[in-house]
Amino acid sequence: MQGKRILLGISGGIAAYKIAYLIRILKKQGAEVRAIMTPASSDFISPLVVSTLSENPVHMEFWNKKTGEWANHVELALWADVFIIAPTTANTLAKMASGICDNLLLATYFSMKGKTIIAPAMDLDMYQHPTVKRNMETLLSDGVSIIPATEGALASGLEGQGRMEEPENIAAYIQDFFQVKKTADSKRILITAGPTYEAIDPVRFIGNHSSGKMGYELATACLAAGNDVILISGPTALELTHPNLQLIKVQTAQQMLVAVQEHWKSCELGIFSAAVADYRPENVATQKIKKQAEEHTLHLVKNPDILTWASQHRNEQQKVVGFALETNNAKEYALDKLTRKNLDFIVLNEFVKDVSGFQAETNKITIFDKDKNAIEFPLKSKKEVAKDVLSVVLKN
Ligand code: PMT
Repeated sequence: MQGKRILLGISGGIAAYKIAYLIRILKKQGAEVRAIMTPASSDFISPLVVSTLSENPVHMEFWNKKTGEWANHVELALWADVFIIAPTTANTLAKMASGICDNLLLATYFSMKGKTIIAPAMDLDMYQHPTVKRNMETLLSDGVSIIPATEGALASGLEGQGRMEEPENIAAYIQDFFQVKKTADSKRILITAGPTYEAIDPVRFIGNHSSGKMGYELATACLAAGNDVILISGPTALELTHPNLQLIKVQTAQQMLVAVQEHWKSCELGIFSAAVADYRPENVATQKIKKQAEEHTLHLVKNPDILTWASQHRNEQQKVVGFALETNNAKEYALDKLTRKNLDFIVLNEFVKDVSGFQAETNKITIFDKDKNAIEFPLKSKKEVAKDVLSVVLKN
C-alpha cells in the first residue's frame, strides 16, 4: 500500500465511527489518505478526528466559507488511485445510482475515472428493500465494486445483514485491489451465467433449473488468474464481489443480449455458460392470468441466440466458448452447435441429475476444440471444472 493514494468518502451513518480505525490501518500500511465527508457524517465522526488521522485537511463543502478556497472535485478524483466510500448510506447509494450530485462526495464520484468501491451500511429492512437492491445492481453495472454488508447486531437493536464490513477487512479488500496480479497475458473476459426468466404474466415465467454455479465459478477462476471479468447473470441467488469484476444482473434473454452487445467489443474472450430460454411468450399478460378454460395456449416466439450474435460480431483476436447440456445424442448435438455457431470451443456437460449439470456441485465435461478434438475430464467440483476450462481455452 506504500504510496497508494486512497480517497475516502464518508457518508452519514452510525458505522462512520469505525472509519477512524480504517484510516489508521491504511496509514500504517503506508497509504496516503484524503477524506471527503458528507455534511451528515459529521454527526457520527468529527472531521477533526478524520483530518488528524489522515494528516490531511478534510473536504466537506464545495468551497470553504472561511478561506473562500474551492474544493476541486475533479482534482480530488484525478488524485485518487481508488475512491472508497465507507459507510455508504441508502441515501448516498440512491444518489450515486440516479445521478444526483448535491454534495462534494457525489461530485467527486461522478468525476472518478478510476475504481470506486463502496461499503454499504444500513438497517436490516433498508438493506433488503427492493429499491436499495436495485440501486446496488445499477452501481455494479456501472463498474462500482461493492463490499457487502455483514450480518450481526445492528444499531437499531435488530440482528441481520446491514453492518458495514470491519475496517481490517475493508483494508484487506483495498490491498487485494492493488495486488491483483496483472500480467501481459491478463484478459478482459465476458461470461454469461444462470438461467433466463421469460415472463408469462406478472407472477409467472418460463425458466430452467440453472443455478448459475458454473458461470460464477468460471468468473471466480478468471479473476483469481488476474483477468478482468464482465459477468452477465440471469436470476440466481449467488453473489460475487471483486475489484476486477463487473456484475450485470438481467432477467430475460433479450436483456442478456443487450448487455452482451454493450460489452463484447471490449473483451478478448467470451464464455457463454448461461442456460438461455430458447423461446419466450409472444405477449406478456399485464395481469395474472386467471384459471378459467380447461386448456390454455401460450404462443411462444424464438429468443435471439446470444452466443451466435457474439460469434458473428467478433474480430480475429476474440475467442468464443459455448456450453452444451444434452439429455441424448450429446456428442452429436454439441458438435453441431460447435460448427453451426462457429465456436472456438464447446464444453459438453454430462447430464446426471444432482451429479452433473444443472444445480449440482459437480460436473463432468468434455471440451471439443474447433477441429472437434476432444479432451475428456473426470467428474470434478465446478470450481475445478472452471479451472480446467480456463486452462484449455487460454492455452490454445
Ligand atoms: O448454472 P448451473 O446450475 O451451474 O448449471 C450449469 C449449466 C449446466 C447450465 C451450464 O454448464 C451449461 O451447460 N449451459 C448451457 C446449457 C445449454 O445446453 O445451452 P443450449 O444448448 O441452449 O445453448 C448452447 C450454447 O448457446 C450455450 O453456450 C448457451 O449459453 C448459448 N445460447 C443458447 C440459446 C440462446 N438463445 N443464446 C445463447 O447464447
